[in-house]
Amino acid sequence: MDKKNLATILVIDFGAQYAQLIARRVRDCKVYSEIIPHDTKAEEIKKRSPKGIILSGGPASVYTDNTPRLDPAILELGIPVLGICYGMQLLTHQLGGIVEETGRSEFGKTELKIEKASLLFHELPRKQSVWMSHRDSVKEAPPGFKATAKAPDAPVAAMESQEKKIYGVQFHPEVGHTPKGLDILKNFLYEACECMPTWTSISMIEDAVDAIVDEVGDQKIICGLSGGVDSAVAALLVHKAVGDNLTCVFVDHGLLRKDEAIQVEETFRQHFHINLIHVNAKDRFLAKLKGVTDPESKRIIIGEEFIRVFEEEAKKLKDVDFLVQGTLYPDVIESGTKDAAKIKTHHNVGGIPMDMQFKLIEPLRLLFKDEVRVVGEELGLHDDIVWRQPFPGPGLAIRIIGEVTEERLEILRNADAIVTEEIKRAGLYKKIWQAFAVLPAIKSVGVQGDQRSYAHPIAIRAVTSEDAMTADWMRMPYEILEKMSNRIINEVSHVNRVVYDISSKPPSTIEWE
Ligand code: XMP
Repeated sequence: MDKKNLATILVIDFGAQYAQLIARRVRDCKVYSEIIPHDTKAEEIKKRSPKGIILSGGPASVYTDNTPRLDPAILELGIPVLGICYGMQLLTHQLGGIVEETGRSEFGKTELKIEKASLLFHELPRKQSVWMSHRDSVKEAPPGFKATAKAPDAPVAAMESQEKKIYGVQFHPEVGHTPKGLDILKNFLYEACECMPTWTSISMIEDAVDAIVDEVGDQKIICGLSGGVDSAVAALLVHKAVGDNLTCVFVDHGLLRKDEAIQVEETFRQHFHINLIHVNAKDRFLAKLKGVTDPESKRIIIGEEFIRVFEEEAKKLKDVDFLVQGTLYPDVIESGTKDAAKIKTHHNVGGIPMDMQFKLIEPLRLLFKDEVRVVGEELGLHDDIVWRQPFPGPGLAIRIIGEVTEERLEILRNADAIVTEEIKRAGLYKKIWQAFAVLPAIKSVGVQGDQRSYAHPIAIRAVTSEDAMTADWMRMPYEILEKMSNRIINEVSHVNRVVYDISSKPPSTIEWE
């Protein structure tokens, strides 16, 4: 999505766990926000003409060599700046204040006392609970700044210079544990940066459609459809921009959930009248995956095969230069950026072969999942696709530990359908981020019908999450687990045991591979 003319807040990432969350919260305030690396130069920022800049927290200390710094010229641009945690310490250090290495850490909830009139705390209570997570602390604000608030272990817990338009908070306004955090951010955004809360799903759609028209004109586009909300919304946006010049290609790689292929075909052919090619590529994917057990190899093989199928279909269509993908912001971040470590290769980003023939169109590249859902609803997409739980591009292949075979796929697909049915029946489907079955690469002993069995276990994974960057295991009522377990063991052949995964992300990930 091109953001040329949009009022933007740039979040400079100093390696914070919370950088994405800051961008999220700014967008929750209906102001567009994007994350940029910490070594971005003032010149580049100036070209973007942001309405404000937020410096994220980070694990570093301003006293350690080679820790990330801010180009000092950024503070001369006259653009309002808010430093959070390490961001505030950096401002203090670079502008001539004193940051103290106390040797004491402050983690958790604490009480903030506001002591002076302040733009950031305008119309907010004088005492409030905030979330701290820091080691060093600001002892003296830089010349020209006033300290506006303190906390038990932070003598300068907030500071500002309205003249310089620079603000700092030692605590984290972006986390839920700071109840007034969103109001503090709003004061920065609306008062200091003079942003209007105008970034809505309609503006997201208009921006995306304009950008696509600008980029592709009346050329032909191909779109990979997976059945999930991301590629469906991406396809609808592109369809809005180029109409019949769009052809969707739905590659059934044989790694989909039960009945998924039928549902996708119905939605796109009957309800949206979009050109659709359904490629049954099951045999070819399974042949490539034969004997492969390494998770990253599976992902790369599947990612590459997808592109090869697209290329073949595109060749048949003639003169197609562009490929649409439903890549989201967390996919981009998790596939590794300068400031974020690579976790796994998401097939729609890092798995793309270097010699790919297409130019990519990724209209959702800067959005989070819930924003995509809002756009989907606005575009008239059906509830069951809008609210479909996320499903990885490599499909069931990365939920089968070890080799992917037809027999193992059948087991997992049937178990997974039961998990979904029971979650829906309990009215939990929309409330949880994902619930699914995993097939581990072991067998265990059981006793079924008075006979010894030696069969597969199924692991049930159910997590709550806001954006998949972090996740917690769902405290599932025992009755539902019991129902799932009974049904899976009774109804799915070759299964004699069910276990429940109680790990959070981090340190685990949501998927098992
Ligand atoms: P992890 O396992 O990394 O998953 O915690 C985070 C979220 O991303 C989904 N996921 C993928 N989505 N292509 C996708 O489109 C992929 O290769 C992929 N791998 C994981 C996963 O289901 C979860 O929602």
